[in-house]
Amino acid sequence: MKRLVLATTLCLGIGHAAAADLHAHHHAPAPDNRAVLKLTPDERAMLLEEMHLFLAGVGKITGALARSDMATVAATARPLGPQMAQTMPASLRAKLPMEFRQIAGPLHADFGQIALDAETMKDVSHTLTQVSTMLQKCSSCHAAFQIRVVDTAEQH
Ligand code: HEC
Repeated sequence: MKRLVLATTLCLGIGHAAAADLHAHHHAPAPDNRAVLKLTPDERAMLLEEMHLFLAGVGKITGALARSDMATVAATARPLGPQMAQTMPASLRAKLPMEFRQIAGPLHADFGQIALDAETMKDVSHTLTQVSTMLQKCSSCHAAFQIRVVDTAEQH
């Protein structure tokens, strides 16, 4: 019974928070001041594909951590490490501003380190701390950049 009451309270709490959030958005849509990356449709698709790999990877890594399955953590994190950055076409890389690359590079390095430490240290809370720090890089880049699709002709 106690559990049911708690669950109900949690549900109500979440519902309330979501409503408040919607409400806030209604009144004050914050201006979007993020820097614009002008990309072709293909380049956008390529970048977003990487993003989906990141998110799927983070989901898999946290699931594996919950089972102390460090082998899966390492196997999931490694392909998202520095080796992933090398698969990006030079033409796209050239369009990404320095500030963007200064977050992307360390993010890939974080994944590489997570893979290495998961294998060698096998310490769940150490890896979780690394994952938390790594996720801040996702947030800071998302707060700074947005994509705008342009035709190849109007890129410059
Ligand atoms: C260096 C910059 C950068 C980093 C780091 C970064 N992202 Fe992104 N991400 C972007 C940009 C730019 C967009 C497009 C945002 C827009 O146009 O509104 C995006 C969009 C996304 C999307 C939406 C995809 C879609 O189909 O619309 C997801 C999901 C995402 N990122 C996940 C992540 C995760 C998870 C991480 C960290 C592991 C991460 N990103 C790190 C730049 C970054």
